[in-house]
Order: sequence, then C-alpha cells, then structure tokens
Amino acid sequence: MTSSAIREILKITQRPEVISFAGGLPAPELFPIEEIKNAADRVLTDHGPAALQYSTTEGHLPLRNWIAERSRISPDMVQITSGSQQGLDLLGRVLIDPGDVVLVESPTYLGALQAFAPYAPRFVEVATDDDGIVPEALDDQLAGLDAKLLYTIPTFQNPTGRTLPLARREALLEITRRRGVTIIEDGPYNELRFRGGEVETIFELARRDSSPDELNVIMLGTFSKVLAPGLRDAWVQGPRHVIDKLVQAKQAADLHSPTLNQMIITELLDDVLTNQIKIIREAYGQRAAIMIDAVARKLPEGVTCTNPEGGMFCWVTLPDETIDTEPMLAEAVDRNVAYVPGRPFYATGARSNTLRLSYVTSTEEQIRTGIDALGAVIADRLSRGVPARL
Ligand SMILES: Cc1ncc(COP(=O)(O)O)c(C=O)c1O
Repeated sequence: MTSSAIREILKITQRPEVISFAGGLPAPELFPIEEIKNAADRVLTDHGPAALQYSTTEGHLPLRNWIAERSRISPDMVQITSGSQQGLDLLGRVLIDPGDVVLVESPTYLGALQAFAPYAPRFVEVATDDDGIVPEALDDQLAGLDAKLLYTIPTFQNPTGRTLPLARREALLEITRRRGVTIIEDGPYNELRFRGGEVETIFELARRDSSPDELNVIMLGTFSKVLAPGLRDAWVQGPRHVIDKLVQAKQAADLHSPTLNQMIITELLDDVLTNQIKIIREAYGQRAAIMIDAVARKLPEGVTCTNPEGGMFCWVTLPDETIDTEPMLAEAVDRNVAYVPGRPFYATGARSNTLRLSYVTSTEEQIRTGIDALGAVIADRLSRGVPARL
C-alpha cells in the first residue's frame, strides 16, 4: 500500500495547474466511444435477453474462441475475468498457500503485490537490470530456494517500461522448467509496441513444445489498455488444471464477468480493435519520444531513465541513493508537477531514489513544462545533498 502521505499529496495533483505524470490510466480521448455505443446498440437489439441474463462462469464463448485462436490453444484454456486484477487475485487464491515463495521483479507491479498479499506468500525479489530479469541470477537464487511461482511483466513492464529480450525469455523458461517453477506472465501492454521488433511472449515459447497440460506458463491479457479499462474485461490463459480451478474460484467470487460487456467487446474484435491499437501505438509513441527527449535535456546529469519500446511508463533513477523521492514529491507538487515515488513498487528491498513517469495522458507542452519543473526539483535536491524529511 502507498503511504497515506503519498495519497494525500497525490490528491493535490488533481488541481488543474499540476501536471501529473503520476497516473496509471490510458489516454481517455482515445477511447472508441462511438464504436462502443454502436456495438452496445447492436448487442441489445439483436441479443438483448442473452446480454442481460446470467451466463457461464468461463465467459462468453465467441470471445474465448477468439482469444484461444490467437494463441493457438483450445478455448477451455481460457477464463474471462473482470480485469487482469481479478485474474491475479484468483490465481493467488488457487495457487498460493501461506508461506509459498513467490518470485517477483525488482521493482514490480504494485497491484500484483496487493492481489497476492492476502494469500500470505513470501515475496522474493529477483535481480533485474536494464533488460529485466537476469536469468543467471535467478538460477543461482533458485538453487537455495523452494520457489513455487514467478510473477513477471516481461513486455513494457509496469513500472519500468523494460522489455525482456528473447534470449532471456528462453532462458527463463528453461530455468523454471528445470526447477519446477510456474511462471505467471502478465501482459497488459503487449499490444502497445511503438518501436522495435515484436518479441514472442513466454507463453508462446512454452506452448511450442509443451502439451496443454504440461505448460508451466500462465498468461494474463486484458482489454483495458487497448479498448477501455471501464469495461473490466480480461482473461487468464493456461493449462487446463489451473483454468479448472480458476473457474471454481471465479464462480465463488462473482459467478461471471458482465455478459453485456463481453458481448460488446466481441462485436469490436478485429476491425475496431485493430484500428484502436494502431491509434494508441502512434499516440503513445509520440508522447514517449517527447518525454524521453525532454528527460535527456532537462534532468540533471547522472539521472537515468529507461527508454521504453512500448507501454505507458518510464522509470527514473536519481544518482544519489540517499535521496528519497517520497518526500521530494511534496517539493515537486509545489512546482506543479507530480510522479509516483518508486518505493511502493518494491516487494522488499526498496530503492527510494526512483520514480515512475507516465507519458500517455499529457500534451507535448505539458510534458515539456512538467519535465522542466521536475529537472529543477531534482537539481535542487541534488545540490542540497541531504535526505528530505516529510
Ligand atoms: C502489470 C499490470 N497488470 C494488471 C493490471 C490491471 O489491469 P486490468 O485493468 O485488466 O485489471 C495493470 C493495470 O495497470 C498492470 O499494469
């Protein structure tokens, strides 16, 4: 959980004069509102009673079929969930026993830590570098550890924007298979590549030479970042023995995800979705380029920033490890700019001199003005050289 102090400060970022890079939300002006309106109209006109009725826990079959076809798996390996966030919770419920070792990236998605925490795992951080998880370090770590799960976001990671190269994905697969670890691959940003070449998902690599029941990779996908998060529609795909358990957990949690939303999304598949992905990639690519350029020019020397090939975030590290970006946030907000401090994204060994920036909900002018202000805040903090206090 973020500290209440951060939450209080982030409330101030709602003020119109504050340029906020703190959000984790997709750009709302890109939502396909007309298309969703028309699709809803068609669904209710043609299939009204079915769209408003209870339906199967596994999810709307045409939607599951589409997901299954893309990954060349059978539909009984797909469970629809209300957002990936629910997928994470349900996976925690069926896979984690108290005390189980769950390996996570350093840093990782805060929401996954929150989703798994109630099932009382022991989180262990895996060493990462600019390319993500370091396979050799993972292998060494696993030698002395009885780990059950590895949770990873290998593509345009939240919070860092990093992408794990193909060779490391293959190495990860080999190591986890050898050591009996199941990978949970979270892929909400997979479609949002704006530069560089496509890299196969770990799930795809695993599927090539595993039978459906032997797969040691479970993947989560979502329509949140490519259509709209308010639809709350996502999925988990994986071996049948896991999906069977998920169905039971899902039934107990909420019977099924909203039928109407699943049917609307099914109407949007292919044409609208493909076009939408193109629009989002282009817009996010432009905004990322502006931010990376501004960061290079305006943040003081020694400050490093990741250079994502897709997704929504970049990750800044300040050169002085004694600087804490949590109290520094108050100074930033005084200068009308906001970010998310890095500390909450670490399961254990937090590096407090880090912060996350989102580039997707700001205009070019806001990005330039905001990064200018952030540069001044960081320069000021570095020149004082003493840890800030809240
Ligand atoms: C890595 C990661 N996983 C899961 C989610 C949750 O997505 P959803 O809207 O599908 O619940 C997010 C949302 O930001 C995310 O960044």
